[in-house]
Amino acid sequence: MKNIVILISGRGSNMQAIVEAAIPGAHIAAVIANRPDAAGLAWAAERGIATVALDHKPYASREAFDTELATRIDSFQPDLVVLAGFMRILTPAFTQHYAGRMFNIHPSLLPAFPGLHTHQRAIDAGCKLAGCTVHFVTAELDHGPIVFQAAVPVLDDDTETSLAQRVLAEEHRLYPAAVQAFVEGRLAVDGLRVRHLG
Ligand code: GRF
Repeated sequence: MKNIVILISGRGSNMQAIVEAAIPGAHIAAVIANRPDAAGLAWAAERGIATVALDHKPYASREAFDTELATRIDSFQPDLVVLAGFMRILTPAFTQHYAGRMFNIHPSLLPAFPGLHTHQRAIDAGCKLAGCTVHFVTAELDHGPIVFQAAVPVLDDDTETSLAQRVLAEEHRLYPAAVQAFVEGRLAVDGLRVRHLG
């Protein structure tokens, strides 16, 4: 069994999709949130998954919080750390510690639109396609070897909300598939390129 630790900050719908996928060989060891009121924490706890609420606010520095966060994560002996709507900038030491074993999902077709407000930015730029990306996490924000992408059309009457809904449905399909590929050892990273084996 591969231990998976999922980090969230809010509703946790991507975390739910991964849990509900019941991926063979994957054990959801814990769900950790940096916001004690994250709705996803209660959802996970109701299903008997270990949960940790680690509020970042009392920590004097980003380094201090990330050090404690890594200690908590590592207590679950993770094979893979999954950022699922985890809204924190991570320190280089933290990303280095989990190099090659930490995923993020981002709601754009990277390298377009890293950062926030991706859907409105795609609409404003006149894009005809939008989408989402699962990538390995590196020190650079929303930049790392791409595991999977999915595209959706941008429609003439789209709003940020309607486009976000269309993309989110793809996120819920894509993220469990990426976790499954990792668990099955089917990903070979070569620079920024990820080859899919088998
Ligand atoms: C998702 O759109 C994800 O791509 C982005 O934040 C959102 C989190 O949603 N990083 P949820 O908490 O998984 O429902």
